[in-house]
Amino acid sequence: MIWAILLLVLLYGVITRRRRSKSEPPLDKGRIPWLGHALEFGKDASKFINRMKEKHGDIFTVRVAGRYVTLLLDPHSYDAVISDSDSLDFTKYAQVLMERIFNLKLPHEQPAKAKTMMKSHFLGVNLPTLKSSMGRHLQGLLKAELPQNQRDWKEEGLFNLCYGLLFRAGYLTLFGGEQNNNAVDPSRVYEEYKKFDGFLTKLARGTLKTEEKKTAESVRKRLWDLLAPAGLNEDSASSPWLHAYKQLLQEDGVDEETQRKAVLMQLWATQGNVGPAAFWLLAFLLTNPEALMAVKREFSQISQMETSEIFLVDRSVKTPVFDSALEETLRLTAASFITREVVQEKILPMADGSEYLLRKGDRVCLFPFVSPQMDPEIYCQPQKFEYDRFLNEDGSVKKDFYKGGKLLRYHTMPWGAGTNGCVGKPFAISTIRQFVYMLLTNYDLELCDSKAEIPEINTSRYGFGMLQPEGDLLVRYKPRNVH
Ligand code: HEM
Ligand SMILES: *[C@@H]1O[C@H](CO)[C@@H](O)[C@H](O)[C@H]1NC(C)=O
Repeated sequence: MIWAILLLVLLYGVITRRRRSKSEPPLDKGRIPWLGHALEFGKDASKFINRMKEKHGDIFTVRVAGRYVTLLLDPHSYDAVISDSDSLDFTKYAQVLMERIFNLKLPHEQPAKAKTMMKSHFLGVNLPTLKSSMGRHLQGLLKAELPQNQRDWKEEGLFNLCYGLLFRAGYLTLFGGEQNNNAVDPSRVYEEYKKFDGFLTKLARGTLKTEEKKTAESVRKRLWDLLAPAGLNEDSASSPWLHAYKQLLQEDGVDEETQRKAVLMQLWATQGNVGPAAFWLLAFLLTNPEALMAVKREFSQISQMETSEIFLVDRSVKTPVFDSALEETLRLTAASFITREVVQEKILPMADGSEYLLRKGDRVCLFPFVSPQMDPEIYCQPQKFEYDRFLNEDGSVKKDFYKGGKLLRYHTMPWGAGTNGCVGKPFAISTIRQFVYMLLTNYDLELCDSKAEIPEINTSRYGFGMLQPEGDLLVRYKPRNVH
């Protein structure tokens, strides 16, 4: 038996032997047949990619679970990948992930139409309505969490506080309509979603053990059922975008069950990142008193000029200090891959004038977290949170960053890039701003242990959007100015 397996492995090695040709990037297959570097990659992709970068430079090809992935880490050369949708296809790999994570297969014409529709809702005339609805839900949920006449501190993990509130408010705004409809309880959706979220990376990599797989599938099934009513009703004021999305699916002959699966994917896309982003921002502020003071000072100027309870919906209210602190937070904690499949052989021109051949069937992957975001050549002491990193001396927005003496087109990329970038960016920023404003203006919020440090990053989530902490940061809060 052992001999048979060894022989198979050996045979496999011979059949699939791949050599680097001179025009191709450096090739690093790893020692384990087929798997290659998959284990190290899954455990801590950032550490692994940094190790390879040190060994091979800004471009190299690694073997990961039978696939060859070329990592490109020179941000000056990113445009050559992002702008070539003919040779480098976005949808193929997206479909693989969709099937693995959501058990979802959609017809091919869909993405472009759905994207146009979402743009009209998230970037267009509907945006102010969405923002104020989000503000109302946030305020309602915060008050329910901690009534205004409460005088005692409430203790909670900051991650759970942020994720829980923002998820439920986002669900009510985009999926559930007003709370007094007979809609599904947002807390139930959140509880199930959190479980699902825990399986996400393993679902994507196909590394769940048999028992885990059963649990993951039953959680996913419960979410499909909970989401079934969402977006059904056209004339409810809520979720017109979801109604339009379902309509599009229907036009393409997508059945009811598949529609639910697609709605879970949208729940992930729209709710999975905002809570963790708000957590990291508040965690950095609470552990950096100077930064917290600066943001509070800016907010207090606004609270003096605004009387309305629903503030900051207006884009014209400028908050450069907050914006810089948020951008700095995202620089340190937004870690998506940008992946493309090579559908026809391509010569990749690098910014330094060199050229590399990309093989058909391989994948190309950018990891902006490593560069530009954590690149010491671009940001001095890149591990450090500096709230004013994106401000000029005169307080205006700092946009110019350099690598190798050359101005960068992309100095951070938390929202992806090109036509596949995030359509929810302005809504997400506005939401986080409203939330942080409410907490810092209407509540006293502090660390339970004043010497507590920011939690470690859960390294298994590199590549899947916003990072999450290992464990939580205990805080206490209570309403301010009780009369
Ligand atoms: C801090 C919060 C957020 C971050 C960091 C973020 C980041 C991203 C990134 C990197 C992508 C590209 C994914 C890819 O390349 O496949 C993306 C796509 C997307 N985001 Fe966001 N996002 C955030 C919040 C939101 C919100 C609040 C919404 C909805 C209102 C939203 C809606 C979407 C949608 C619909 C897509 C898919 C676009 C497409 O069809 O290609 N996002 N987001
Ligand atoms: C880290 O993230 C993975 C995937 O989401 C999860 O399964 C695991 O429990 C997390 N670990 C900790 C310590 O939070």
